[in-house]
Amino acid sequence: GKKAFIFDLDGVIVDTAKYHYLAWRELANQLGFEFTKEQNEQLKGVSRVRSLEILLGIGNKHLDDDIKIKLLHEKNEQYLKYIAKMDHTEILPGIDDLLNYLKFEKIPFSLGSASKNARLILETLNLMGLFDSIVDGNDVSTAKPDPEVFLKAAEKLGVQPQDCIVVEDAQAGIQAANLAGMTSIGIGDKKVLSEADFVLKETSELTIGFVQNLIA
Ligand code: G6P
Ligand code: MG
Repeated sequence: GKKAFIFDLDGVIVDTAKYHYLAWRELANQLGFEFTKEQNEQLKGVSRVRSLEILLGIGNKHLDDDIKIKLLHEKNEQYLKYIAKMDHTEILPGIDDLLNYLKFEKIPFSLGSASKNARLILETLNLMGLFDSIVDGNDVSTAKPDPEVFLKAAEKLGVQPQDCIVVEDAQAGIQAANLAGMTSIGIGDKKVLSEADFVLKETSELTIGFVQNLIA
């Protein structure tokens, strides 16, 4: 069937993964514990609520639900402050060219993100109109590694899961893509993303040539 692409947002389209990390780290420090970059890999791709659970587990903190709700709100406020300062220079290398190439070739593509801020970020970057479909944290009930987000994206695009190619920077995202029966491309560390069908060190390696070979 006709091939289609599904892109994760944070850490694939735009360099926001670092802002999620900074905001979570500030929260951890405020609660009195350290939170390292290595530990942060566990939070990538995971929903906001699930991220807090993992973070509190790392810090061995047991908090009441009303406090957790407050912390989720604080984290997001902090994150949004970083987002507000963002501009198109934070679109990751090669992504703009690739999206425009896919558009030109009429290869459909969707967003498949866990973020509830996804639409805001795409609007800010002027990328919203390029996507044939958007599935984000507001549209799903189960978080990656559950394949729901990607299966919904395939459905919206009107393509079969096996014809979809997912681009992801998170281990949970690669697992979700694999569970959906899709081809997975990991962007980042080979050790973290070992379950992916292909691993590229950074988005600049996701060239038009690479994509042409893949879909040929
Ligand atoms: C993405 C990011 C996660 C983030 C999640 C929820 O999957 O990789 O780090 O926690 O989205 O994002 P949100 O913007 O809704 O807090
Ligand atoms: Mg990501």
